[in-house]
Parts: sequence; C-alpha cells; structure tokens
Amino acid sequence: MLLLTGATGLLGSTLLRRLLSEGTPVRCLVRDPRRLGAQRVRVQIALGDLADPPSFRNALRGVQTVVHLAAAIRDQPQGSIEELNGIATWRMVQAAQRQGVERFVFFSALGASTYHRTRCLRAKALAEQAVREANLRSVVFAPSIIYAPGDPWLTLLERLALLPVMPVSGRGRALFQPIWAEDVADCIVATLRGDAAEPHTRHELGGPETLSHSEIVRIVLRSQGRRRALVHVPTPIVSRGLRMLERTLGPGAFATWDEAELMEVSMTSVRGAADAEALGVKPQRMAAVLGSG
Ligand SMILES: NC(=O)c1ccc[n+]([C@@H]2O[C@H](COP(=O)([O-])OP(=O)(O)OC[C@H]3O[C@@H](n4cnc5c(N)ncnc54)[C@H](OP(=O)(O)O)[C@@H]3O)[C@@H](O)[C@H]2O)c1
Repeated sequence: MLLLTGATGLLGSTLLRRLLSEGTPVRCLVRDPRRLGAQRVRVQIALGDLADPPSFRNALRGVQTVVHLAAAIRDQPQGSIEELNGIATWRMVQAAQRQGVERFVFFSALGASTYHRTRCLRAKALAEQAVREANLRSVVFAPSIIYAPGDPWLTLLERLALLPVMPVSGRGRALFQPIWAEDVADCIVATLRGDAAEPHTRHELGGPETLSHSEIVRIVLRSQGRRRALVHVPTPIVSRGLRMLERTLGPGAFATWDEAELMEVSMTSVRGAADAEALGVKPQRMAAVLGSG
C-alpha cells in the first residue's frame, strides 16, 4: 500500500492518475474526499489533516511507501506555514518510522535553507532535515516551480492578462527552471520503480530552460494570444497591499504576500534538467507545453 498526501493538489492529482493506471494500491490522506473527484472511488481514503498529527497513524497502517506532497504556501486557520510544512513533516516521518514504513518520498523545493528569505522555504529546509535524519529509506525531490495548464497559478496570470497592462510583483528578475507536473510525476514513478542503493537520495528537478519571472509571464501572455506591457509593481507596495488583503479577507484572499514573495526569489539548480534526465525523463519547455511556440 502506498500512502499519498496532497492527492488533490497539482502534482498529487497528476501522480494519482499515473499510479492508478498502473494498478498501484493507493491510500490518500485528505481533508475532503470530494476534492478527489472521480478518483475517490478508486482509492482508500484516510481522513486527515496536516494540522492533526494523530490522523497520520491511521493513514499509515500497513503502508510500505509514503509520498508526502501535502503542503501549504499560506497560513491556514488550523496551522501556520511553519506548522503545516515543517512540524507536520517531522511528525509524519516519525509516525512512518514507528509504523515500519520502508520508504518515504518528500517534496522540498530548490533553494530551501534555514536562513531563506521566505517562510515556506525555511520550513521546507527543516522538513528536509527531519526526513534525511529519519531511520528509513528516503527520497527528497527539490523542484523549481511546477506548473500545468489550468493550475491555480497560471489561471491567476491568465486572469491578470485580461487587464490593459500586466502587473508583475517586483522587478521580475528572479530565475526559475519551470517543470511540467507530468514530467515531475514521471520522475516520481521512475523512483518508485527503481531500488536506490543509497538509503537517502536527493534529486533537484528543473526544466530545460532558465527563465526570469518576467519571461514566464510573457510566455503565458503569448499562450493566451495577448500583447500586454508588463508593469513592475514595487515590492513594498505588493507586500503591504497583499498583507492588508489577507487581514481583511482571511483565507478567501485571491493571493497572499507569502505566495507572491516566492516569485521574488530564484529557484534554480546548476544541474538544470540533469537529475530528471538521470531518471529517464526529458522535461519539456514551458512554451511547448502551453502551446506558445
Ligand atoms: N508547485 C510548485 O511550484 C512547487 C515548487 C516547489 C515545491 N513544491 C512542492 O511540491 C509538492 C506538491 O506541490 P503542488 O503544487 O502539487 O501543491 P498544491 O497544488 O498546492 O497542493 C497542496 C496539497 O496539499 C493539501 N493540503 C494543504 N493543506 C493541507 C492540510 N492542512 N492537511 C492536509 N492536506 C493539505 C491540499 O489539499 P486540499 O485539496 O485539501 O487543499 C493539496 O492536495 C508540495 O510539497 C510543494 O511544496 C511545489
């Protein structure tokens, strides 16, 4: 049995389709099974929440492999970014160890470090450390930005593209190696099939190109057939505006500063697409996936 967390998310839903088509028995730890859509009748469901560690125990019963994708890039009423990414992962890996899980696959992020500027990537660094130090076989993936047509981030950019000018937070110079969710799912499947000799392995996942935030926005505009001037909104204005919005609207805010800040820090690996290629996956260019040339 494989326990998948985050199965309702961008990467989780892509991976779940793949696992089920191969006949892998999957249990999903979810907050709301309805969000699994049609797949909910094809999996075992364990109701749980990252903010509720006792729910992990039940979910882990009889599990050999955990793929832990659930994460949060904004605070939730039940837990902060630090609790949901850092402490919850530590508790999940501890519980997995106690239940005799053989292999733990975890998603960190490129550039995560304990002194990172963003809260999310500081929490990811602590989580990664907990996974590495646990007494079970582990695989850590550190991806650059992951995308798929229709995902919430690209949908937000497409909505902003309806404005007469295209707002971009900050100078738009942070660098990324965007990688398609399908390519990332291929990397996970390749890892699950293989039997690594090392007890702990780490793969940095980048797409084939290094693009600035502004270049990514231009690719999205081209895929929509829209020509717009980019207007760079100074970071202090974006951070103040989004913080005020989050205070006013709470979880209903369309974006938060913690999310926007992630687009102001580079997420690249000197290895580029090499780690994905070593797993037999050749990541596609973003423009090709979005159909913009
Ligand atoms: N997307 C990227 O660009 C990127 C970049 C670097 C690293 N990563 C990492 O890659 C992994 C997959 O990313 P993704 O983009 O697929 O994430 P995503 O689309 O944001 O999905 C997040 C998942 O976590 C679940 N979740 C959130 N809060 C939860 C809670 N309190 N309890 C239980 N489940 C909860 C969500 O379930 P609900 O349906 O209940 O909300 C959803 O299934 C994550 O670990 C992420 O940090 C992503």
